[in-house]
Amino acid sequence: MTSKFKDLMAQLNDEEVTVTAPNGSALAKQVTLKDKKKLSDRYNFNQGWYDALLNTDAVLNEATEGEVFRLDPKEKRQIVEIGVYEGASTCFWSDFYLDHPESRLISIDPFTGSFEHHENPENYPELGCIEYTARGNVAKSDNAAKVEIIKGFSWFVFQELVLRNDTDRWIDVLYIDGAHDSASVARDVALFCPMVKPGGLVIFDDYAHPDVQRAVDMTLNAFATAQKAMFTGWQLAVKF
Ligand SMILES: C[S@@+](CC[C@H](N)C(=O)[O-])C[C@H]1O[C@@H](n2cnc3c(N)ncnc32)[C@H](O)[C@@H]1O
Repeated sequence: MTSKFKDLMAQLNDEEVTVTAPNGSALAKQVTLKDKKKLSDRYNFNQGWYDALLNTDAVLNEATEGEVFRLDPKEKRQIVEIGVYEGASTCFWSDFYLDHPESRLISIDPFTGSFEHHENPENYPELGCIEYTARGNVAKSDNAAKVEIIKGFSWFVFQELVLRNDTDRWIDVLYIDGAHDSASVARDVALFCPMVKPGGLVIFDDYAHPDVQRAVDMTLNAFATAQKAMFTGWQLAVKF
């Protein structure tokens, strides 16, 4: 049976939780999500979803088996993220992984919210203001000038991005955190994963959710060649 999204998300709400690598293997250094909370100190966020991304970052940086996925903060890269909401993950990428002068981030969102937000609107009173909040947050981030927010659904923005880029593969890091129903995830995988360079990294948010997992597992191999994958506790990191 499909678990309720809200119940699964509740697992992430404990700020004191200690980050552990998959299978409980040791991290080089003890990390708690609280240590990494600087994002919420600085910005205006109503949801704590970026905990999952901070957790993945800590696991990839501190676990021995995370080595192959690690990102050098100084390297030049093109990042694309699907799903901005109030810009938490956007600010994460801007603050931690866009330092190279030529690095860029494209962030895509129609700012409508997704099915799961519309289903329980009482849990998302901020929904009507997310674009305003996101743009304000991103403007405060370390590399705001390197971030382009494109307002639209990923499958429509895809067309524009194909026209802009004459090479097939131009994305170094892809973060998929848009709508979480199976059909939407499958569509994002099918359209965007073929644009990731060999050696690139894709992170799937909410991979622990059965709908997301089903869509990723069914589509990834059909549209891309994944070399290595690592489940980080909630998300899946895949090296192409
Ligand atoms: C879970 S939120 C993103 C959270 C954000 N990454 C963060 O760290 O806080 C999902 C977002 O995906 C957006 N969305 C829904 N369908 C989309 C689509 N087809 N393309 C891009 N974004 C989409 C929604 O508007 C919503 O803001």
